[in-house]
Amino acid sequence: MPDSFHSQEFRHATLDHLLARRSLGLLQDPAPQGADLDLILQAGLRAPDHGRMRPWRFVTIRGDARVAFGECLAAAAAKRDPEAAAALGERGRAWVRRTPLLIAVGAIVKDGKIPAFEQVLSAGAAAMNMLNAAHLLGYGAMWVTGANAYDPNVNTLLGFEAPSRLVGFLTIGTPAPSPTPLLPRPELSAHVIDWRPPAE
Ligand SMILES: Cc1cc2nc3c(=O)[nH]c(=O)nc-3n(C[C@H](O)[C@H](O)[C@H](O)COP(=O)(O)O)c2cc1C
Repeated sequence: MPDSFHSQEFRHATLDHLLARRSLGLLQDPAPQGADLDLILQAGLRAPDHGRMRPWRFVTIRGDARVAFGECLAAAAAKRDPEAAAALGERGRAWVRRTPLLIAVGAIVKDGKIPAFEQVLSAGAAAMNMLNAAHLLGYGAMWVTGANAYDPNVNTLLGFEAPSRLVGFLTIGTPAPSPTPLLPRPELSAHVIDWRPPAE
């Protein structure tokens, strides 16, 4: 860790940068690769993990593999909803085609004393860490689910047979010009309660 990290100034600047994170759906090439991609994935592996279950699995879908993945999504959509197969298929293909990098994030859920819920939460925390890492490295990213993430066929294709499950797709790339406007952020007071014991 660089010495500079120990200065309060650096820590605050880093946190300010994190607090400016926003989801970006409009992305272009290049996607993170090499050392940048490794850093993003390593950030995922820093998620808290009760019982050392190591539930995390990250499936990268990039380059030419995206075309084949788009076809798989189209086939899954056709099984889900045969009447809308053409439209849904094209939507899935187009989504994958315009996304520089997808990371399917999921939990490999194992039996034991750690509840499945906690293993899935840990995979969610990994996803969040990766979003933050992508942001800190200057990439745009977004967490999406939609029908594909809940489709058992898509889960199986990616190695998440129940009780394992996908928690979503991270779409990552270089922010495109004219990003979506920054959403207003909520007030602390709307979400934070200073607990007090109930009155007798
Ligand atoms: C588990 C999860 C699934 C999500 N799925 C979608 C999705 O399928 N489509 C979508 O537009 N936004 C989805 N979102 C919301 C975006 O990732 C994002 O949080 C939202 O657009 C607000 O932007 P912000 O992160 O800049 O506040 C999802 C968020 C979470 C946590």
